This record gives sequence, C-alpha cells and structure tokens, in this order.
Amino acid sequence: MSTLIEQAHSREWFYSYDLPDGSTTPTYHGDDIKAIHNTRWQMLQSCLDERLGKARQGLTALDLASHQGWFAVKMAQAGFSSVLGIDARESHVSDSELISEIYGLDHLAFKQGDIHSQDAGQLGQFDVVLMLGLLYHLENPVGALRICRALCKNLCIIETQIVPGLTGYVDYGSYQYVRPLKGSFGIIDETEDTHGPEASITGICLVPSLDALLWILRKVGFSDVTVLEPPENAYEQLRHHKRVMVAAQV
Ligand SMILES: C[S@@+](CC[C@H](N)C(=O)[O-])C[C@H]1O[C@@H](n2cnc3c(N)ncnc32)[C@H](O)[C@@H]1O
Repeated sequence: MSTLIEQAHSREWFYSYDLPDGSTTPTYHGDDIKAIHNTRWQMLQSCLDERLGKARQGLTALDLASHQGWFAVKMAQAGFSSVLGIDARESHVSDSELISEIYGLDHLAFKQGDIHSQDAGQLGQFDVVLMLGLLYHLENPVGALRICRALCKNLCIIETQIVPGLTGYVDYGSYQYVRPLKGSFGIIDETEDTHGPEASITGICLVPSLDALLWILRKVGFSDVTVLEPPENAYEQLRHHKRVMVAAQV
C-alpha cells in the first residue's frame, strides 16, 4: 500500500503543493502558471482581511469549481471553520481529498457537482462563496450567478476572464423602443476541449464584458459590487484587465 505522499507524486497537478516531506507535487503546466494562483490568492486574502477582519473562527466558505482544491485548502488554512469545495470533475474531487488528508484538514470537504444544479435549500448558505476561474466556462453564466447569490450569506468573490464590451443603443423591435445595452457576452468554443481538466463540461462558453458582469451581479441581488485592484506585481491577465476579481456583497 503506497503512502499518501507517493500517491500525490504518482498524479499530475494543476497546482504546486508543498508536501510535508519537503517535495512538491509535479505540475503539468510548469512553473509559469504559479503566478496566476499566487496573484489571485493575494487579492483574495487582502479582500477577506479588509471585509471580514483577521478572525475567521465560526465562518464557513464554499469554493465553486474547486479543481484540485488549492483555494479551498488556503481558506481552510486561513482559519475558516468549515470549507466545502465543489467541482464537476470527479477526479479533481479525489485529488483534493488526497491533499486534504495529507495536510490533515478535517474541516475541509469536497464533493462532485455541476454549479448549475446546486441548491441552497440543500447546501445551506455560506459566509463566503468563491467562484474563481469558472464563469467564462459556462453556458448559463446568469443562472450560475443567481446560484452564487442564493448560496451566499455575506461575501461572494468572482474571478473571471472578461471580453471587450459593446456599448450604445438598439432599436428594440422598432425605432420607438430604443434601449441602451447594459453589457455584452462573447461566445467561446470549447467543444473540442471538454476532456481538459480546466475546461467547460459542455463546450459552449459565454464570457461577459465587465459591464455585463457588474450589471448582472446587481440584478441577481448583490447590493455592493466592487472590482478589486490587482497588485503592482500581478499576473499579466489581471494587471491588464483581461481578467477581473470582483467582490459582491449581499
Ligand atoms: C479554470 S479551472 C479553475 C479552477 C479553480 N477555481 C481556480 O481558479 O484555480 C475551471 C474549473 O471549473 C470546473 N468546472 C467546469 N464546468 C463546471 C461546472 N459546470 N460546474 C462545476 N465545475 C465546473 C472544472 O472542472 C475546473 O476544475
């Protein structure tokens, strides 16, 4: 029977985890990918510190699209009393459970599920909901944001790729019904990529413009919606506003 560390070494990882024996998990994207995770955790941490203070005892967190558990592990290590990660891919759930066992985090759990079928009636509500790197892989982003709102008691952090937006006015059926555009979506085809560990599960992806994302977040019931400032040394996509992290307060 192989040890937990041997099991971690026999798999391939999206995240570079430091293991208790001083080794790290082998990653399939090389070291370049680390910057995007580190920037996002840095931004997330400073937002949590600012809005919740340093005391996390008694607070719950949900990580939607938890992949191999990196952000859920960070939240559990940052003092949240209970953390749940949900991902559509069963293999990610088993990798996350392995890491959680290696770190001995018994207040951290994972389950397989599609974001679109999550139900606050069954799961309850969480103080903090994370939806990082998911929205732009979905064919129903508005429905997913409604679910985030239903599952959230206090603060929801959404991090996503965005597309350049259209603005202006349309004749909506006739020149007598002119409407302003509130934002727009770009369609991205991932239909050939659905086998990929980071990809969409259906292949049809609607990516919002920043205006669209902010407008929809307010419409689904968040009262205060703020785009978080990336740090000086941020990963290029966040630094150049191709991706954003947004804090949505209930
Ligand atoms: C780009 S990765 C982001 C992972 C992690 N949240 C992060 O930011 O590092 C996208 C993740 O979304 C998951 N995913 C894709 N479609 C999903 C869906 N409909 N419901 C839940 N998870 C989904 C994938 O399995 C993958 O783990």
